[in-house]
Amino acid sequence: MSLFHTLPIFLCIIFFTSTTTSTTLPPSSPSFPSGLSYHIDCGSPTNSTDQFNTTWLSDRYFSGGATGIVSEPLRFRHGHEKTLRFFPISSGKKNCYTIPNLPPSRYLLRTFVVYDNYDGRSHPPSFDVAIAATVVFSWRSPWPQSLARDGAYADLFATITASSEALICFYSFATDPPVVSSIELFAADPASYDAAAIGKNDSVLVNYGRLSCGSKQWGPGFSNDSDRFGRSWQSDSDFRTGRSKVRAMSTRSRISGTEQKPNYFPEKLYQTAATAEEGGGVLEYELSVDAKLDYLVWLHFAEIEERVRRVGERVFDVYINDDNLTRVDIYKQVGGFAAFTWHHTVKNLSSSVLSVKLVGVVGAPLICGIENYALVPSDPSTVPEQVVAMKALKDSLRVPERMGWNGDPCAPTNWDAWEGVTCRTSKNNTALVISQM
Ligand SMILES: *[C@@H]1O[C@H](CO)[C@@H](O)[C@H](O)[C@H]1NC(C)=O
Ligand SMILES: *[C@@H]1O[C@H](CO)[C@@H](O)[C@H](O)[C@H]1NC(C)=O
Ligand SMILES: *[C@@H]1O[C@H](CO)[C@@H](O)[C@H](O)[C@H]1NC(C)=O
Ligand SMILES: *[C@@H]1O[C@H](CO)[C@@H](O)[C@H](O)[C@H]1NC(C)=O
Ligand SMILES: *[C@@H]1O[C@H](CO)[C@@H](O)[C@H](O)[C@H]1NC(C)=O
Ligand SMILES: *[C@@H]1O[C@H](CO)[C@@H](O)[C@H](O)[C@H]1NC(C)=O
Ligand SMILES: *[C@@H]1O[C@H](CO)[C@@H](O)[C@H](O)[C@H]1NC(C)=O
Repeated sequence: MSLFHTLPIFLCIIFFTSTTTSTTLPPSSPSFPSGLSYHIDCGSPTNSTDQFNTTWLSDRYFSGGATGIVSEPLRFRHGHEKTLRFFPISSGKKNCYTIPNLPPSRYLLRTFVVYDNYDGRSHPPSFDVAIAATVVFSWRSPWPQSLARDGAYADLFATITASSEALICFYSFATDPPVVSSIELFAADPASYDAAAIGKNDSVLVNYGRLSCGSKQWGPGFSNDSDRFGRSWQSDSDFRTGRSKVRAMSTRSRISGTEQKPNYFPEKLYQTAATAEEGGGVLEYELSVDAKLDYLVWLHFAEIEERVRRVGERVFDVYINDDNLTRVDIYKQVGGFAAFTWHHTVKNLSSSVLSVKLVGVVGAPLICGIENYALVPSDPSTVPEQVVAMKALKDSLRVPERMGWNGDPCAPTNWDAWEGVTCRTSKNNTALVISQM
């Protein structure tokens, strides 16, 4: 079972902990550029290795807070899901994890968050999460019951530039203590997902659905299978709508054009597919989204049916939110047993649903995977010299923890600046500067 929730602003993909199926050891997957990945078990005093041979580091790099443990630890499969760090208001309104010494690159950041009444107050907290200066997730009380009890994974791609550190900050609403159970970072190729053309390299790609069609959930943290960037893939079955009967297909044959720079899409993704049962059928998917954002939709195809061996034997049209965008003949594009991808940016979406519909023209439509990312523009940070100066000031003044002088002094702008600090945007509008103290 897996489910997809959307909370008020950005919250994304949800994997229930109960979906974990594999218990065997995986080959450890090297990631780009240097096999770099970090797995932090928030709230845990010890390092550990899980059943997928992933090394989890004891809790570190946090600005404050305290540790907790879920109320029913036996219901959770992984050690890193049972312990958590929370940030009571006595630690200040803003708290961060600062992961140092990261080579500038694009990274997949994945968090696991659960409440499970760890504090006995039966009140899942409201809080925001930001990466650098950009707010990416908003948790608002009350959470759906299953989410509060089972927790959720959420992930995104973000670029870490010259600062060489990942700054992941939590901002408390009212006096609610933010919570986090694990934080993972996987290096990804800086040019992945057409970074230069889409969002000028600096948008954050927040995962609103990453589906593997005709398959169960798989990927790092969920199965024995590897994915170079740490992407995990959900089953498409809960997202299908429409009346056509759908058939799952799979093959063990090699698929060419997979695992290639810059996206390194795994071969396994193309070895299963969903197809409509009858010729001329329709395949339909619906993903929950938040309105007023742009979305990057990435579709994956491979002709994995032996009998389709000529151009024109399987042809279908791709509709996104009822716009006919392209006609696909996989065999014509790449031949049989080869990966074909197509992507499209949906601008300023006005609905809370994104629909992907494949309509057969000749034969039945077929699809292997769907990815959907909100393109969240990066917000400006405080100019670096002032950040350095303010940190020095914080140390020399011994500013108490409850003042919450953590992370960037001014950013994100939707949160309060550090207490006692007033900020404005710089004249060129690309940075924040301190105007008053
Ligand atoms: C999981 O990985 C191990 C170690 O590489 C391998 O021996 C095993 O066959 C894999 N299991 C599955 C179900 O793929
Ligand atoms: C697990 O990881 C360690 C080092 O990270 C490696 O030496 C070992 O071979 C791995 N084991 C398996 C079964 O993949
Ligand atoms: C955990 O592992 C890290 C990196 O290998 C090491 O620096 C640290 O001392 C270890 N921490 C504990 C509590 O064993
Ligand atoms: C975006 O990143 C690519 C790959 O790293 C680089 O070649 C390009 O110059 C960058 N473009 C911008 C606008 O920063
Ligand atoms: C859908 O769009 C494609 C490409 O623009 C076009 O070739 C095709 O005829 C269109 N389909 C319909 C049913 O209009
Ligand atoms: C997005 O669409 C809404 C109406 O749906 C409009 O009011 C708003 O100005 C648009 N924003 C952008 C950036 O185009
Ligand atoms: C914009 O202004 C800030 C602060 O004055 C400066 O640090 C930064 O380099 C400027 N950026 C550009 C692109 O001019």
